[in-house]
Amino acid sequence: MARVIAVTNQKGGVGKTTTCVNLAASLAATKRRVLLVDMDPQGNATMGSGVDKNSLQLSGYDLLTKRATAAEVIVHVESAGFDLLGTNGDLTAAEVELMNEIGREHRLRLALNTVRDNYDYILIDCPPSLNLLTVNALSASDSVLIPMQCEYYALEGLAALMNTVEQIKETVNPNLQVEGILRTMYDPRNSLTLDVSGQLNEYFGDKVYRAVIPRNVRLAEAPSYGLPALKYDRASKGAIAYLALAGEMVRRHGATRKAAAAAV
Ligand SMILES: Nc1ncnc2c1ncn2[C@@H]1O[C@H](COP(=O)(O)OP(=O)(O)OP(=O)(O)O)[C@@H](O)[C@H]1O
Ligand SMILES: [Mg+2]
Repeated sequence: MARVIAVTNQKGGVGKTTTCVNLAASLAATKRRVLLVDMDPQGNATMGSGVDKNSLQLSGYDLLTKRATAAEVIVHVESAGFDLLGTNGDLTAAEVELMNEIGREHRLRLALNTVRDNYDYILIDCPPSLNLLTVNALSASDSVLIPMQCEYYALEGLAALMNTVEQIKETVNPNLQVEGILRTMYDPRNSLTLDVSGQLNEYFGDKVYRAVIPRNVRLAEAPSYGLPALKYDRASKGAIAYLALAGEMVRRHGATRKAAAAAV
């Protein structure tokens, strides 16, 4: 059964969508069955995966308002190597329509339950705010992956995010874990980067991924071709960094499963 991971950070532009598309492609390249769910009405993950958000037959809106099932909305994206549950601006209307519905926080979880067995990993791209869409993503997930830039206010933002995770655990999803913290747009020549990085390691220990994502122009260019960097320029530093992240993630899950098996 798939591990469901929400890629989230309430701060905008930290690399959530870039991480979703490229991690999905990298996990798929290691023969994992991957579904990417776009829960941001901006539809950047949809476009970045090579699907035109304006010509979607069915989208996240239809899923959350129960007009369609997950199996009906999901498309396979051959060029990217993974499945996509695409979204566009209509998703904003779902938020409004759900306002007075009982169980509105759990719509995504219930919908994804019907396809969980078809995948090894389900990644959910979240919008840069804590709204009903994000709460749906966090309710549906086993864990959160937090991309962040190593800059001055990042730690403050991270503290706020950890608070959110705690609140979600107390209310809609007691099983939510922190998958890990991913340093994005990483520049080791910048002393502030190293400073913040050091503090992250101190506070969050092995929750901080050893793999870091460098600032790399190929990662910024690839979405305009509707491709993950791995398919756009597989030798680029960005593509290689996301492959390393996928490798680390798969190894960590392998280690956790072995430990669990040894304990019984
Ligand atoms: N490692 C990187 N190197 C260079 N550019 C990057 C990198 N990661 C992301 N970018 C660029 O930075 C911008 C923001 O990235 P992205 O869209 O992934 O962030 P986001 O957190 O999803 O943003 P939002 O909060 O708006 O959803 C994009 O233009 C993207 O191409
Ligand atoms: Mg985004």
